[in-house]
Amino acid sequence: MLAQHVAFLEKLVQRGGPQDDEHLKMDAWIADFYDGLHHNEAKEVWLDALRKVLRPVLIPGTMHGWAYLKPYGYAGDFEIIDRHYLNYVTADPALAAWDRYWQAGAAAKAVRNRKSYFHQLLEQHAHSARGKGITVLNIASGPGRDVYEFLHRGPKNVCFECLDQDSRAVEHASTLCREHSQRVSFIEANVLKYHPARCYDVIWSAGLFDYFSDRTFKLLLRRLIPSIAPGGQLVIGNFSESNPNHHWLHFCEWHLHHRSGEQLVRLAVEAGARRENVSVGKEPEGVNLFLHINQPAITPSAD
Ligand SMILES: C[S@@+](CC[C@H](N)C(=O)[O-])C[C@H]1O[C@@H](n2cnc3c(N)ncnc32)[C@H](O)[C@@H]1O
Repeated sequence: MLAQHVAFLEKLVQRGGPQDDEHLKMDAWIADFYDGLHHNEAKEVWLDALRKVLRPVLIPGTMHGWAYLKPYGYAGDFEIIDRHYLNYVTADPALAAWDRYWQAGAAAKAVRNRKSYFHQLLEQHAHSARGKGITVLNIASGPGRDVYEFLHRGPKNVCFECLDQDSRAVEHASTLCREHSQRVSFIEANVLKYHPARCYDVIWSAGLFDYFSDRTFKLLLRRLIPSIAPGGQLVIGNFSESNPNHHWLHFCEWHLHHRSGEQLVRLAVEAGARRENVSVGKEPEGVNLFLHINQPAITPSAD
């Protein structure tokens, strides 16, 4: 069995990766390979054998390579996320098919879609504020591409505070957003040690909580809920259990806590949110879910 998988992948590597009409076949092959890993005591040996065959592809210049090698020392750094937003394909024609395959996957599309989801959310809040300024806390802001595009094109009554623990991400995002420096500021900090000093109309965090255990997820949520301004929202992205590309993520040792909508709601309630203030949305691929926690607006009393 392993020999067949090795032979299949060797041939594919030799002929420059999956062509555009072979993506479904590749999806089926990786699923079949992982089926063979179930209850397989030689699981790590099998994975190592395939990674060895794929070694010419696993270089920093490709999506699979950057994901697997983690040049910054951790999975999901700002660079690979920005490559998703930019629909990056290596300039090396011998490897480009691999990147086209990655970028065509539902997970890659979901990353790009979450940028639009964020923008729509911000537009709604900006609109209901009727020109009044609103402030957004963007936790784990990464490349800042989403914020940059909104600053460039979106309503002008939105200001951002962006927080990330990686100084390279902060440097990249602040350079990208430099022409809008009056509406965006950056904080280099570990959110797990950060205590917001004020309330925000929107607290947004995508691509962070799916790296956390349930315990850490709830711990942070419990700390953030009191910082949602009346009428505001806290929105947390988390990859869903139905991510069809989860085998490739595992293959690249990019480990996420995939969660269902029900799990997200349960975590929110266990972290102190009231059930009636909690809902779950998703982007068009259904791969990136979004946990919404609303803080009801204060209604003026009758007297
Ligand atoms: C997957 S990226 C998400 C980027 C961005 N939110 C987006 O969706 O485009 C994750 C980012 O989280 C940051 N990060 C990870 N753990 C963090 C922590 N404990 N505190 C602050 N930032 C963190 C990383 O440095 C990285 O830039």
